[in-house]
Amino acid sequence: MDIPFSESYKIKVVEPIKRSTREEREQWIKEARYNLFNLRSENVFIDLLTDSGTGAMSHMQWSEMMLGDESYAGASSYYKMKDKIKSILGFEYFLPTHQGRAAENVLFSVLVKEGNIVPGNSHFDTTKGHIEFRKAKAIDCTIDEAFITEAYHPFKGNVDINKLENVLKENADLVPFIIMTITNNTAGGQPVSMQNLKDVHTLATKYNKQIVYDSARFAENAYFIKLREEGYQDMTIKEIVLEMFQYADAMTMSSKKDAIVNMGGFIAMRDEKLFKDASVFNIIFEGYITYGGLAGRDMNAVAQGLDEGTEFETLETRIKQVEYLGQKLIDYGIPIQLPVGGHAIFVDAKKFLPQVPVEEYVAQTLAIELYLESGVRGVEIGTLLADRDPATRKNRYPETEYVRLAIPRRTYTNNHMDVVAATLINVFDRKDKITKGYKILSEAPIMRHFTVELEKL
Ligand code: F0G
Repeated sequence: MDIPFSESYKIKVVEPIKRSTREEREQWIKEARYNLFNLRSENVFIDLLTDSGTGAMSHMQWSEMMLGDESYAGASSYYKMKDKIKSILGFEYFLPTHQGRAAENVLFSVLVKEGNIVPGNSHFDTTKGHIEFRKAKAIDCTIDEAFITEAYHPFKGNVDINKLENVLKENADLVPFIIMTITNNTAGGQPVSMQNLKDVHTLATKYNKQIVYDSARFAENAYFIKLREEGYQDMTIKEIVLEMFQYADAMTMSSKKDAIVNMGGFIAMRDEKLFKDASVFNIIFEGYITYGGLAGRDMNAVAQGLDEGTEFETLETRIKQVEYLGQKLIDYGIPIQLPVGGHAIFVDAKKFLPQVPVEEYVAQTLAIELYLESGVRGVEIGTLLADRDPATRKNRYPETEYVRLAIPRRTYTNNHMDVVAATLINVFDRKDKITKGYKILSEAPIMRHFTVELEKL
């Protein structure tokens, strides 16, 4: 018998989770105004809201926490992180921040001006938020295949080079930089190929533009390059990562993903002037240059996490778990974004519940049904998240309406994945009975999905 694949770790610390009854969940979700963010986490059985900050740190990361240097300035923890960023990502300069959006806030305070246009592959919501907050515009140049969930493409996160060139041709003076999100979260945790990163770099050089990587899941991106792109099979993840970042001028990072910590972020860059300009905003918004909103112990954990997160075994264990869940859903005919991405399953809500109109928030409707079924919490990546157009204030209806089931790193077992699969299967079996969605009772002017209150129709 072949020895089967299994996790590359064993478990040392556990945290109990509680089941609940359907009646209890009906009450809780009603009290939460049908917004899954408003639920108490103790009322969630399997929490797939996000893979951000929800992973399990290793024993090495926990021991690094004890070695943290809490000096205000010049802490050894800062230099530990700096050395790792230099050796793993290749950047000379860096600034710690408390999380990814803080990195965006600091960097964009230097780079983005009113009226600017920032093209890229699908911008993450906080990235778009930070662009639109500065009265600039984000243009999504992702390839068309990304929006056809049943179409197989090995690198659905790619930018369409023609779309990007058109934006650059028409608005050359308005584009401060190109942003590449690796992996492309919004399109389904889909990777960007090395070839695409090279092509974007060639184009950027032609138009004299900088490239910034939104790097939250860069290691997962490298894993897919190793598996799917010609010429990378024999390279280590760390070698691939170094090559990927050669084609960028700067990066923002949410360390809560591929650096496997509960909180943290950073900006890294090659240019000393950009570092100095960004340092001013870092000091105002985050903290002094050598801690930027993080405790010394947190910086130590990030440094260690960057190392572990770029090990093949860590990535293989993680992504195979996502595939394990994905395969069960595919086998049952449940419509999901194909192929399965790095950090999550993206369920195609419009195909799952075609009878529920997008105006009634079909993806949110499905996410609520999954919670009611078994206490599994996913998140809507649809009209609520897409928000209103800042100029017209009209709802933006994205091409695809997803329920994202994001898998935290090293947190759940495949038994939990079986529960998630059974949940989707049960709801799929009774999908014809779900005919009505929700309407909005109240919403915030920006990033409404976090706090929106809904009423059942
Ligand atoms: N960029 C990407 C691609 C992200 O996925 C996120 C966060 C951020 C930036 C912002 O980082 O949360 O540390 O401020 N994504 C989380 C998610 C929240 O659930 O996908 P942050």
